[in-house]
Amino acid sequence: MSRAEAGTSAKLADEKGQSVRTSNILAARAVADTVRTSLGPKGMDKMIQDPKGEVVITNDGATILEKMKLFHPTAKMMVELSKAQDVEAGDGTTSVVVIAGALLEAAEKLLKKGIHPQTITEAFLQAAEKAEEILDSVAVPVDLSNREQLIQAASTSLNSKVVAQQSDFLSPLAVDAVLKVIDPKTATNVNLEDIRLVKKLGASVDETEMVDGLVLTQKIARAAGGPTRIKDAKIGLIQFCLSAPKTDMESNVQVRDYTQMDRLLREERSILAKMVKQIAKTGCNVLLVQKSILRDATTDLSLDFCAKAKIMVVRDIERDDIEFISKIIGVEPCATIESFTAEKLGVSSLVWEENLGSDLGSIIRMTGLTGSTYSQTGAGGCVSVLVRGSNQLLLDETERSIHDALCVVRSLVKKKALIPGGGAPEMEVSWRLSEWARSLGGINAVCIEHFAESLELVPYTLAENAGMQSVEIVTKLRAAHVKGEKFAGINVKKCCISDMVEMKVVQPLLVSISSIKMATETVRMILKIDDVVMCR
Ligand SMILES: Nc1ncnc2c1ncn2[C@@H]1O[C@H](COP(=O)(O)OP(=O)(O)OP(=O)(O)O)[C@@H](O)[C@H]1O
Ligand SMILES: [Mg+2]
Repeated sequence: MSRAEAGTSAKLADEKGQSVRTSNILAARAVADTVRTSLGPKGMDKMIQDPKGEVVITNDGATILEKMKLFHPTAKMMVELSKAQDVEAGDGTTSVVVIAGALLEAAEKLLKKGIHPQTITEAFLQAAEKAEEILDSVAVPVDLSNREQLIQAASTSLNSKVVAQQSDFLSPLAVDAVLKVIDPKTATNVNLEDIRLVKKLGASVDETEMVDGLVLTQKIARAAGGPTRIKDAKIGLIQFCLSAPKTDMESNVQVRDYTQMDRLLREERSILAKMVKQIAKTGCNVLLVQKSILRDATTDLSLDFCAKAKIMVVRDIERDDIEFISKIIGVEPCATIESFTAEKLGVSSLVWEENLGSDLGSIIRMTGLTGSTYSQTGAGGCVSVLVRGSNQLLLDETERSIHDALCVVRSLVKKKALIPGGGAPEMEVSWRLSEWARSLGGINAVCIEHFAESLELVPYTLAENAGMQSVEIVTKLRAAHVKGEKFAGINVKKCCISDMVEMKVVQPLLVSISSIKMATETVRMILKIDDVVMCR
């Protein structure tokens, strides 16, 4: 190949790379633009309808993106980004996508200037590292014994949700739930599996409560008229069925005469009677039965035997709940009748069924769970939260919002530092990064300055969504930060600039750091792609 030919082919490849990059950036930015209107306390909610006609109303970035069926690979990367933030921090799933969108816009401008993608990615990496340093310097330490501070942070995350009105009541609940499952002195993480949110339709969100004990939404199997209220209960949890055994293979039994039929029934009766007798012998008087998909977990006959033995039966315990239930009650699940022994039972001072009204059905409550790990050690236990809502959409969104608030408290346990909200950290990082960039000089500085400028999109969007004059207010905010007011942020209620710490709008440091870091990572990945190869 002559030199001229080589030059032409390199140019072609370069042009192709450019067009691939442009289309990738376009797709990802389109996703970011969709969720941008949902950012902040005055952000809008989205109603998402799936092909089956099911509707979800939500403000949660990760949920919105997850429900959107996207096909473009880089658009999917934005969904993954939001999910990753959800796993890492639980909150800030909208911000992370908005920031990534802004960074992509900046990168696009830089590419148009003719700067090589590799230079941009290197500069962005440096900028993200510096941003983390700056955020660290703004942060104030948190003491987990200071409940007030934790409540403020939980409140900030709930402020932007559909249930914002109830944040005064839900934030202390989230904080107390987390504090109940950890030891505040030593904890470095929270296992959110230990906090079980139980949804029950009906009543208003205000009636959501943290339950002392366990709540089950299943019904008591009362076909045979067994007990529905038991004091000093001994609870057993079984994973096998209380019905006649079945062969593994499909099989038919041909019964030719009446005596054979009689023998079959007698046999079944005696097997069940034996099983129930063995269960009753251990002193068990409340029996939780795991849901079975292969056959009925209980039969009329076995329920009848249980009723006679004064055993309360609760069926359809979900497989996923077994671990939580066994931990909170202190009961060991049994997979076979032979392993069902007295030591495996849990205790409860009272198990009863509470009727919630004619249409709503009932719930089962268990209190005084002295066998649970919580009461034994004083910390590191489990807690149930009964979530209420007057309709299914609200109920689901309330659950998601409480989950966000729990994640915020978890972030504070993981990294014990708070920063102001309302666009304050982004603006602080933005102007200090530009200052720093100026001291560097060169192409790197240009890229870092663009990076810094793009972070302004967060306060800008907060203002825009609140119906303010966004350009004016962001300029004022920048001026305030340059003057040294590092906690200045956007006051969406009074449409002005205020000290966010005084306004009690605070958020975990971890959320902001992880959103900048992850957004940068994704943007760098997108920039480094110069070809899309299809394969079959
Ligand atoms: N009262 C408030 N005043 C000003 N800004 C606020 C207030 N409450 C929250 N914010 C800001 O709103 C932003 C968070 O908005 P939002 O909760 O809608 O999105 P997210 O946390 O990024 O995503 P998600 O909650 O959906 O996971 C943060 O920048 C936060 O500082
Ligand atoms: Mg939030």
